[in-house]
Amino acid sequence: MVEQIFVVGGEVEPPFFIGRNEEVRRIKVDILFSAQNNVIIGPRRIGKTSLLKNLKNSVRSDVLYVPVNCRKITEPADLFRLTTHALILAYEEKHKIKGLAKKFSEVFRGKITAATRSISEIGGSIQHVGNVYLRFREDDINEEELVAETFGFVERFANEIDEPTVVAFDEFQELSKFPGNIFGQLKSHMDSNPNVRYIFSGSSVSLLHEVFLKPDSPLYLMAARVRLEPIKKHDVSAYIRSRLKTQDIGISDSALDRIYDYTDGFPFYFQKLGFILYQNTTLEDRSFIDAEDVDIAFNSMLREFDSEFEARYSSKFSRQQQEILKYLSAERIRRLSEIARDMQKPSSSLTTSMRDLYYTMTVQKPQEGKYGILDNVFRMWIKRNILGYNELSSNE
Ligand SMILES: Nc1ncnc2c1ncn2[C@@H]1O[C@H](COP(=O)(O)OP(=O)(O)O)[C@@H](O)[C@H]1O
Ligand SMILES: [Mg+2]
Repeated sequence: MVEQIFVVGGEVEPPFFIGRNEEVRRIKVDILFSAQNNVIIGPRRIGKTSLLKNLKNSVRSDVLYVPVNCRKITEPADLFRLTTHALILAYEEKHKIKGLAKKFSEVFRGKITAATRSISEIGGSIQHVGNVYLRFREDDINEEELVAETFGFVERFANEIDEPTVVAFDEFQELSKFPGNIFGQLKSHMDSNPNVRYIFSGSSVSLLHEVFLKPDSPLYLMAARVRLEPIKKHDVSAYIRSRLKTQDIGISDSALDRIYDYTDGFPFYFQKLGFILYQNTTLEDRSFIDAEDVDIAFNSMLREFDSEFEARYSSKFSRQQQEILKYLSAERIRRLSEIARDMQKPSSSLTTSMRDLYYTMTVQKPQEGKYGILDNVFRMWIKRNILGYNELSSNE
């Protein structure tokens, strides 16, 4: 197999996973002492999913760690199926019981008796899952009850096996789209069971506020917040230099400065840029990278993201949000009043759009009245392709 130099995409593990010791340690303590639930919040590509993976690796011998990707969940039946299945799968992995999850999935194909018989060694809750699912298919219970049954199963199962259990819901904002009071149901199970802890991870500030920080919400203050920041410059530079060194490629300090300047420490981007730099250097049979090489690599990276950014820009934002992003892209941080002036609108007419951009972690608010696009690569793309384009065409 070819040795990997940088890893772009997917869940990365050491030596490709860097700079998150503090976060892993903090959440690990909460898990081991069953102290509190956690909610991890950060923009896309900051490394939430990878953090969850490494967290799992560091606690897997102490607890039953159950990862659930809510992106795959579009209705309560998915939540029920995927969560119960993930639980059984985690149990199978931890205790090396081959074929357990496979047998369990027969529960969902109606072969409950067969499934129960072969997995009865881990207790009675399996049969219950099968019966619940059958009743749901026969319209005997509704979706809200199915959600309650999901958390009920987690609770019963954890008690049966008598092991501390951690369920990690990645992209948990997807769950808020369900009808009914999913978080209220979760709350009642959280209270009653010290054996089960939850981790929520997502990129929606509004959900964080509504679910965990609003006094009348059922989960008010039920989880400690971990905000994922970019990886620190020192860590990024050391990482890139050492990865390149494995291929006998050197890099100047100014080149490393520039990489950080462009990527802002967003792991997805420095891995990608590192890879392009490595590729270009090898193709041209060179062994040293300088700042100009970074500019060239960054340009080709922007081009690679063209269709993705184009799609995001044109489909994820309202007209007014697009306008705001356009003028915001001119600099890293701008005043609301400046943007309003550019748009020839009063500042007050922009606050709703601004708030929504903030809530989806598209825009940050470093100080009162000041805003900036969080993803610097996306900002540069907008600046060149939207702001630049419009300036050119209006001069014609
Ligand atoms: N701690 C890390 N160190 C180095 N690279 C990372 C780290 N976390 C993430 N990455 C890189 O960023 C990419 C996206 O990370 P991911 O965890 O999927 O982000 P998110 O879930 O926040 O969107 C990964 O595929 C990997 O290339
Ligand atoms: Mg993710």
